[in-house]
Amino acid sequence: MDLGLQGKACIVTGATRGIGLATTRMLAAEGAQVLSVARSGGDETFAADVTKLEDAPAIVAACVERFGTVDVLVNNAGTSFVRSLEQLSDEDWQAQWELHVMGPMRLMREAAPLMAAAGGGRVVNVCSSAGKRPSLTNPAYAVTKAAQLSLSRVFADRYAADGVLVNAVAPGAVTSPLWTDAGGLADQAASSRGVSRDEALAAQAGKIPLGRFASPEEIASVIVFLCSQRASTVTGAAWSADGGTFASII
Ligand SMILES: NC(=O)c1ccc[n+]([C@@H]2O[C@H](COP(=O)([O-])OP(=O)(O)OC[C@H]3O[C@@H](n4cnc5c(N)ncnc54)[C@H](OP(=O)(O)O)[C@@H]3O)[C@@H](O)[C@H]2O)c1
Repeated sequence: MDLGLQGKACIVTGATRGIGLATTRMLAAEGAQVLSVARSGGDETFAADVTKLEDAPAIVAACVERFGTVDVLVNNAGTSFVRSLEQLSDEDWQAQWELHVMGPMRLMREAAPLMAAAGGGRVVNVCSSAGKRPSLTNPAYAVTKAAQLSLSRVFADRYAADGVLVNAVAPGAVTSPLWTDAGGLADQAASSRGVSRDEALAAQAGKIPLGRFASPEEIASVIVFLCSQRASTVTGAAWSADGGTFASII
């Protein structure tokens, strides 16, 4: 199947690890040109922090400078940690809000009008199943991911008539470095529950109807499809890619 992504100018945030890296590689394999964005930067990565006010215009300008336009934006940068409602500080809440809502909002505010002027485009917001069904692992994550789902729908409604299709993907647990790195969610869950790392991973997998974590590539496949010409009638969706975790018929 030709996804129609050859030569498309794409921005992927959070592109150096996990879901963002898999998405970048998959878009490139389809012939797209990708501006990879992360704070750490590097040879082929544009160094930017999506929580900084001035970085959104800089990211979009870099894409236009390199590739001449912006056809696709993937708002993927995000993070979580194990912290209870009682432990979360005001700074934790604010930081999660900046990362999951203000960052994607500013990038869409910059990129969507350019896409509209060029006749259309695609935006994919990487949200979470925790935004559909709040989890107590990190309530600030669940609440801000719910807000990101709403943000995605607001931009979808505003830009539909301009041919800019905006969708969300809601992954469940994924074997990205966020979970698997030393000190990541697996280790944090283990220490907060007083179990081994393997027991923490097995407990998480046991909550998923498919019985396992997704790979970053499995989530990237859904993201890339939504970025493609093939998803030409999909907008305003919040596509679960969670092994059946969020039980709903809509
Ligand atoms: N893994 C899961 O189980 C899971 C489940 C549901 C949803 N998600 C969502 O999927 C997305 C990707 O998660 P992941 O698991 O792939 O995470 P990850 O493995 O921790 O990778 C995160 C990426 O985001 C970048 N990043 C973090 N903060 C940033 C910032 N302020 N500005 C720019 N880049 C930033 C990181 O690079 P630098 O550190 O260099 O900036 C890295 O490239 C997130 O939105 C997450 O909430 C993940």
